[in-house]
Amino acid sequence: MSSVSSSVLTLNRSHIVPIQERTDRTIDDLLASLPSVEQLSTDERRGIIARYSAVLEGNFIYWMTGAYLSVGSEEARSIILDNLLEEVRDCHPGMLRRFAMAADAIPTDSDALAVYQELSDVRLFIGQLPRVAVVVMMAFFEGFIQRFMPYLAELALRQDSAEKEYTDVHGVCDIVHTQELFRAVEAEIALAQDSCEPPENIFEGVDLLRMLIQKIAVG
Ligand SMILES: [Fe+2]
Repeated sequence: MSSVSSSVLTLNRSHIVPIQERTDRTIDDLLASLPSVEQLSTDERRGIIARYSAVLEGNFIYWMTGAYLSVGSEEARSIILDNLLEEVRDCHPGMLRRFAMAADAIPTDSDALAVYQELSDVRLFIGQLPRVAVVVMMAFFEGFIQRFMPYLAELALRQDSAEKEYTDVHGVCDIVHTQELFRAVEAEIALAQDSCEPPENIFEGVDLLRMLIQKIAVG
């Protein structure tokens, strides 16, 4: 099989490029489907920032930890550990909380409820500790976050917020994070191939996370 027309692959090192192409396309589609910032009301802008915060603040490090627990190769472990170290050391959840507060968009009960089902689906997927699929999902997530930052920054600006640390940091550092995580995907695929593991649906996490991001955008 030389393409990713089917999401169930026989794992192979040569699949890394089409995997990245597919996650890039998913990000393109997600960004193209976002409502235009100019047409959003104050409440709609607040809702997107609040739902984004409700999902990311408490879950990003948890899911990256799930990826750490899932992988088998030393290379992938070391890449994910560096990512976690930066998240914890620089307190990215605190950065995101300050961003939401400054935009008057602290998540409420209804924001948490709006994403509850899709968020639970991603959590359950992570709990299965799938080796390749979870790293593919986190590589996709980093890529999405980085490319979503200008939109998120624009929402905050229109909420009269001057707080830019979160969007500035993640618009830059996540480029390297994405590249590194695809290197981790490659290492895990190589390991799975060497140990003749059965094929897995490596896009399952991407599909679940895509649905969660769509929910963040529309409520
Ligand atoms: Fe972060």
